[in-house]
Amino acid sequence: MTGDTATGAARPAVLAFGCGSLGTELGWRDSVRLVEAALQAGFRHFDTAPPYGAGQSERILGEVLASCRGQITLVSKAGIAHPRAAGALRALRKLALPVKRALPGLWSRAANQARESASPAARFAVADVQRSLDESLRRLRTDHLDALLLHEVFEDALTPELGALLDGWLADGRVRALGTGTGVAQSLTCHARWSPRLRWVQCDHYWGAFTPALRQGSPRLSTHRALRLGLALVRAPEFAAALTQHGADSLRRRLANDSERGRVLLAAALQQVGEGGTVVVSTLRRERLRDLQDLPAVDDDVRLLNRLFSEALAVPGTHATAS
Ligand SMILES: NC(=O)c1ccc[n+]([C@@H]2O[C@H](COP(=O)([O-])OP(=O)(O)OC[C@H]3O[C@@H](n4cnc5c(N)ncnc54)[C@H](OP(=O)(O)O)[C@@H]3O)[C@@H](O)[C@H]2O)c1
Repeated sequence: MTGDTATGAARPAVLAFGCGSLGTELGWRDSVRLVEAALQAGFRHFDTAPPYGAGQSERILGEVLASCRGQITLVSKAGIAHPRAAGALRALRKLALPVKRALPGLWSRAANQARESASPAARFAVADVQRSLDESLRRLRTDHLDALLLHEVFEDALTPELGALLDGWLADGRVRALGTGTGVAQSLTCHARWSPRLRWVQCDHYWGAFTPALRQGSPRLSTHRALRLGLALVRAPEFAAALTQHGADSLRRRLANDSERGRVLLAAALQQVGEGGTVVVSTLRRERLRDLQDLPAVDDDVRLLNRLFSEALAVPGTHATAS
């Protein structure tokens, strides 16, 4: 991947396939079929993370994508380990009940230690992040990630030791770009502190107003939940009233149409993230994939949709970029 594609410069916004449901809502066979169908439909960018499906999401991507690795972009995360033994832990908890009753002091000391070791600060300890990347690469059957995002990261986790580890990966090519996959407020503080090391911002789709600060230092802007949030917004009575007020008959008709609604929302989301941006989208239904890639051009309806969302949702002190 060249420097240009890592930063997203001079490249149209693209849809990425979000793999959070692989190995959870769908079993192995259906997940494999879904990823194969996404590839056939034209998706070339895949977003995953170790906890998705307790590691199964990365394994499924490894199985399907290993043979075409050179043609696709793989983004994974570190910071939330996959629950290695979720089932075993549940069983242990039941077994431990007699200990808890007999030795409450010992139990509470052990419980405190367990809580501390699972605390947010521990999620970004160098040894844990190191192990997380090693395991992700093994499951994904690749020697590098196109981007590694710090999952639900917060400013205090950005230690010099973690910075040195990440810089080493950038230098040896195991990771081609770094970023955050967290809330908007945390993205802003983390990027202000570690720019230009962090080149990707991935956050909930910020319908209405991308703060200029999120774009500072030209990070590659990637958003998720655009469909989920957009669908909720167009269902709100206030939105129907705004459509009437603007005499937006064509947009209203398109949003009332089941197959057109999602496509118009995604076209608007891509327009909002702008050049070099990514909108991560997901579906469990293979038949929807081609529709999702076959988006309408940015026309007056798409621009009006973004304007209406901006007016409805603009955050004081920011200015919308959607018009
Ligand atoms: N911290 C982070 O980094 C983070 C956090 C959250 C999410 N993510 C990533 O983002 C991905 C996507 O998240 P998401 O699932 O919330 O995103 P989304 O794409 O906004 O929403 C998916 C939902 O939209 C529905 N849908 C898809 N196409 C549709 C259409 N044409 N019309 C109507 N509904 C449609 C899907 O239902 P059907 O399945 O029935 O089609 C599904 O319920 C995740 O898989 C994950 O990779 C990352």
